[in-house]
Amino acid sequence: MRTPIIAGNWKMNKNPQETQEFLEAIKGKLPESGVEAIIGAPAIDLNALTWFSKDEPLKTAAENCYFEDAGAFTGETSPKALSDMGLDYVIIGHSERRQYFGETDEDINKKAHAILKNNMLPIICCGETLEQREAGKAEEWVTGQIENAVKGISADDLAKSVIAYEPIWAIGTGKTATADQAQEMVHVIREKIASLYDADTADKVRILYGGSVKPANVKELMSKEDIDGGLVGGASMDPESFLALVNFQK
Ligand code: PGA
Repeated sequence: MRTPIIAGNWKMNKNPQETQEFLEAIKGKLPESGVEAIIGAPAIDLNALTWFSKDEPLKTAAENCYFEDAGAFTGETSPKALSDMGLDYVIIGHSERRQYFGETDEDINKKAHAILKNNMLPIICCGETLEQREAGKAEEWVTGQIENAVKGISADDLAKSVIAYEPIWAIGTGKTATADQAQEMVHVIREKIASLYDADTADKVRILYGGSVKPANVKELMSKEDIDGGLVGGASMDPESFLALVNFQK
């Protein structure tokens, strides 16, 4: 049984004060079981998140990291430092990082290795553009991104990791993929994992859908067989909305 995940991705939003206010608002209100609630936040907010998560059923995610543990890499965040702080996950390969910061599949693969080596888990993002979808190239593109991202990762490590399918045309646009479109691609990704690894690994890896997930559509998305959760941007930033998302089963 794969435990469902609701993972917030705040992107470049909220300062430490706003983070504190958000955490106060959700304190004592997260479900104790049945769902893994995660918040991905900017590096400057992670200290507050990790302290909060010591007493609350919340897992924490950084939104990016570098692939070296330390050194002369001005402005980068060390995966070892994130692990020392108590972070659980790191989001990698988000389309915004690929598009605006030139991240390549090779960088993403190196980051995945660095994160696992430091006892955290990667949330590996993938997704196609509208042009690729309309040209019938979406499956080939997305499965290629996944194949490159997981190179050299063991079956055991991959089984614990998380993949997030986020069609670029649905991110922040209010345009959600239909639950059937999302299920279709998430299933293709699971089959790709089965072909690269084995059926057991494919059955264990959790695959999320992301792109305009909100309280109004989360239930339908989550009812699909292969969809194990949501990576949520806009709708994760308001405490009430985040709580509604993590309580989607009620
Ligand atoms: P959105 O963002 O929910 O605001 O569409 C999702 C994401 O980019 O992770």
